[in-house]
Amino acid sequence: MTAQAIPFENYALLDDAECDARIVAAKEELNGRCVILGHHYQRDEVFKHADFTGDSLKLSRLAAESDAEYIVFCGVHFMAEVADILSRPDQVAILPDMAAGCSMADMANLANVERCWRELAEVLNPDESVTPVTYINSAADLKAFCGRHEGIVCTSSNAQKILEWSFARREKVLFFPDQHLGRNTGYRMGIPLDEMVVWDYDQARGGLSEEAIRKAKIILWKGFCSVHQMFFPEHIDRFKAQYPDALVISHPESSFEVCQKSDYIGSTEYILKTVREAPANTRWLVATELNLVNRLHEEVKHQGKNVHFMSPTVCMCSTMFRTDPQHVAWVLENLVAGHVVNRVRVPEDIARQAKSTLDHMLAVV
Ligand code: 13P
Ligand code: SF4
Repeated sequence: MTAQAIPFENYALLDDAECDARIVAAKEELNGRCVILGHHYQRDEVFKHADFTGDSLKLSRLAAESDAEYIVFCGVHFMAEVADILSRPDQVAILPDMAAGCSMADMANLANVERCWRELAEVLNPDESVTPVTYINSAADLKAFCGRHEGIVCTSSNAQKILEWSFARREKVLFFPDQHLGRNTGYRMGIPLDEMVVWDYDQARGGLSEEAIRKAKIILWKGFCSVHQMFFPEHIDRFKAQYPDALVISHPESSFEVCQKSDYIGSTEYILKTVREAPANTRWLVATELNLVNRLHEEVKHQGKNVHFMSPTVCMCSTMFRTDPQHVAWVLENLVAGHVVNRVRVPEDIARQAKSTLDHMLAVV
């Protein structure tokens, strides 16, 4: 054990090849005490070191089931929080770069969600008639809020089942922070657009009339993903004009208009599975993050499949991109030296309340 943690400065200027070798050596030395979980949006140089990869739901389950002492989460902050909440108290969740957040998750916070709940109470009794549903892309204290109000968590792959669970209990849903996942899922369940209203958290009572709130089945938080907002229906029209037989697959964080023009809609894991299992020589237009799309194209091109990114502009998730081989080498070599750096630790009372909603979710799907 070194006396002090090794500072990141020692790694900042290392080249990727050197980090690569050091990551492999550190993993070997840790000999199963550490598991690396990698989200599908991670860059190639990091993704290749993951022991397991997946979408948010799959990675949550893996974190809950892992026996490893250290869970190094190559993803974003809310994912490492979920790993901390679902793992045993003696396990340690680590986020290689603490600045890897999620801009959508930041669009809802406890203060503005509690204010929303109070303002809803001016019109109806939310604890009797509204189930709060938070997308997993949210801070732990919002999951705890849902725990306190008999709500639940969902991911992009189970949103419909979670909404069904919610409507079986109460007549309305408050869905945050992603309006698009809420709207796309609600519409697929047969809820008309005019019964899904947007709560603008910058305005008094969400900018909604009493009547609109009373009539709504789903109150959608005005949040969105900065990556998925870059896809437009015109991109699909242009592509289809060139390749009429092409298939379109989109992540449900994309807009309603994009999802309406898509042949398939689903989580990152679903997108990969659908394209991998598709017949040879098919052509795909994909609305999700660029690293995933590029890797998928490379993987299936030998089957004659073509996978295209939907937007003409490069749109990577800049926060997912923050996790680089330098940070991964830094956290692993510190573990080898007996130091934990960048531990993500959710305060106990918040973790307990948040865990109840995550357990509910894992039991429903
Ligand atoms: P998935 O759960 O589909 O991997 O989505 C996570 C995410 O952040 C998409 O932007
Ligand atoms: Fe958040 Fe969007 Fe990045 Fe997913 S792609 S982590 S929703 S900012």
